[in-house]
Amino acid sequence: MIVVREHLKCQAAEAAVAYVEPGMVLGVGAGSTTEQFVRVLAASDRRPRAAVAASERSRVLLESLGISVVGLTGEIVPLALYVDGADEVDPRLRLIKGAGGALTREKVIATASRRFVCIVDESKLVPTLGAFPLPLEVVPFAVHLVEHELRSRGGAPLLRVGYETDNGNRILDVTGLDVSDPEQVERDLAGIPGVVECGIFARRRADVVVIGTEAGPRRLMPQRA
Ligand code: 5RP
Repeated sequence: MIVVREHLKCQAAEAAVAYVEPGMVLGVGAGSTTEQFVRVLAASDRRPRAAVAASERSRVLLESLGISVVGLTGEIVPLALYVDGADEVDPRLRLIKGAGGALTREKVIATASRRFVCIVDESKLVPTLGAFPLPLEVVPFAVHLVEHELRSRGGAPLLRVGYETDNGNRILDVTGLDVSDPEQVERDLAGIPGVVECGIFARRRADVVVIGTEAGPRRLMPQRA
């Protein structure tokens, strides 16, 4: 059954505009929820001075709506705000991202930002990460080595055929890995030669998750210890 969640994505995107200070430079991720956010933001009275875009597709959209796109230069790091979607969100605000293939730049911008506001519809909330195939960006020369390493760790990698990232690399979507300790798996995968980045965002998780739900927008914040 195909479930249409566009209105919930739009609801999260609209609620996230409140985090934008007019005239600021913010980071913008990739994906359909982020694109809704860009459209709502461009039409609002909180338009930014400029944005750092995580994908070429986001860059084109931002510029088509009259928002300047700049690089991640020393003058603007750290950014005050990064807004992006996710494929899975756990209760501790750890994420799986990268269905759109922009995970490396997304993680770079998220890490370069003081606040990461993640925008999702309620279908993205999970008790534990790992049902969604985990994307890995890999340099082309290393694809077979990385596939071999992943299989030896119990994973089943699937190469995105005919797909190249904005960085000229390939994406492996991996199922079967035990990601019950997301921080450790994120570290372990980064240690395989040829892996550029993995789609687990645990060390740099979201600071706030804005969720579109049938009952209205909801916010998920870190639990106090
Ligand atoms: C792209 C991403 C996206 O943020 C993620 O896939 C969610 O996309 P959507 O908002 O279309 O569901 O990580 O690399």
